[in-house]
Amino acid sequence: MRIAMIGTGYVGLVSGACFADFGHQVCCVDKDEAKIDGLHQGKMPIWEPGLESLVKANAERQRLTFTTELPEGVKDAQAVFIAVGTPARRGDGHADLTYVFEAVRELAKVMAPGTVVVTKSTVPVGTGDKIEQILRDEGVTDFSVASNPEFLREGAAIADFKHPDRIVVGAQDERAQEVLKEIYRPLFLNRAPILFTGRRTAELTKYAANAFLAVKISFINEIADLCEAVDADVQDVARGIGLDNRIGPKFLHAGPGYGGSCFPKDTLALLQTADEAGIDQRIVRTTVQVNDDRKVAMAERVIRAMGGDVGGKRVAVLGLAFKPNTDDMREAPSIPLINGLLERGAEVRAFDPVAREQAEKIFKGITFSPDAYSAAADADAVVIVTEWDEFRALDLDKLAGAMRGKVLVDLRNVYPRDEAEEAGLSYSGVGRGAV
Ligand SMILES: NC(=O)c1ccc[n+]([C@@H]2O[C@H](COP(=O)([O-])OP(=O)(O)OC[C@H]3O[C@@H](n4cnc5c(N)ncnc54)[C@H](O)[C@@H]3O)[C@@H](O)[C@H]2O)c1
Repeated sequence: MRIAMIGTGYVGLVSGACFADFGHQVCCVDKDEAKIDGLHQGKMPIWEPGLESLVKANAERQRLTFTTELPEGVKDAQAVFIAVGTPARRGDGHADLTYVFEAVRELAKVMAPGTVVVTKSTVPVGTGDKIEQILRDEGVTDFSVASNPEFLREGAAIADFKHPDRIVVGAQDERAQEVLKEIYRPLFLNRAPILFTGRRTAELTKYAANAFLAVKISFINEIADLCEAVDADVQDVARGIGLDNRIGPKFLHAGPGYGGSCFPKDTLALLQTADEAGIDQRIVRTTVQVNDDRKVAMAERVIRAMGGDVGGKRVAVLGLAFKPNTDDMREAPSIPLINGLLERGAEVRAFDPVAREQAEKIFKGITFSPDAYSAAADADAVVIVTEWDEFRALDLDKLAGAMRGKVLVDLRNVYPRDEAEEAGLSYSGVGRGAV
């Protein structure tokens, strides 16, 4: 199949490279010249495990190409995927569809008859209908519009794309169904479940999935607070409930609250859709509030662990990205945490294995260190914010030896309390009472 991908970000680049790897002919289009120039030189715009070699291998075989020119990118394409950003609109949290509609209007001018236009971006219910309308208004008559939401996780994006739990396709006509079936044939042959639904259902399924995961995280975070108050251990509680097949063990890790480019904006967008439909979604609304409050409260938690005053004290922050194996800083819990500490007069030294470049654009007045131990040098406290693998195997004696104070705040529950205490550290985790 000949495929065009409009938008070459996390989703567009990973999807494009994987489709090419399936044997399709893919052209990735992006307006960002620096990004496309870089890709022509083999430079990845994002940090994602395995991406560079996948992109290079498929580019060398001429199955994966890059351009800033939409007409060139969509020439002869049977399917055009839209994978541009849909950020939360300032003020009301509605998904901002400016980039999607702009791409559709540009596409209308150059697409071939019979093209299947597929939204891979996360878009609110009814966006497919609006895209159809735009295409008709622009004089296009022969086309299909389908929804194919993407469920990949940053940090494991390629594995997720190639071995998905499911593929959801919202297609209203046979042509769109057939084209998408053909595109996903290699996964179909691997027995990945492909769910064909109505287009609106597919659009909503993506939001429902992310909202449910956000609820699960917030649920265990609130149980963690309760554990702290009653001397119970949230990790044991999570294991105790997670072994129940009806509940499942994933997304039950208590921590500093969820961030990233998806959960925060998608929960808000779901609430907007619900508002417009006149249907209250109290659980999701509360989840958003619980998570926002939690992220802000993390600075206070660190300050409390440090005796209530951080003025002039040095805090080492380990991990800045919103989760491990990515350099994505969007809505990262490290942001309100560090800003909260700075506001209270702390000096912050931070280290992240890959997100420094992105983090430098966000933080003012902090120092970046080249590794965990130099961040910890002369620190009064060390705070683990992102559970990178390399923070799981720190030499705690060495860490404690480098520090001035002895406070370890482990917001990801990476270390057992006794291990930290043996190294002479005063340990504070999440949801771990004194038991
Ligand atoms: N990042 C994830 O983990 C993830 C997972 C699933 C779904 N999604 C959804 O996928 C969509 C894309 O997310 P992302 O993280 O890849 O975004 P991103 O910001 O990394 O990439 C979007 C890209 O689109 C480009 N673009 C914008 N308008 C364009 C146009 N008219 N023509 C060509 N290029 C254009 C931008 O320059 C940018 O490179 C969003 O709707 C997001 O919610 C993201």
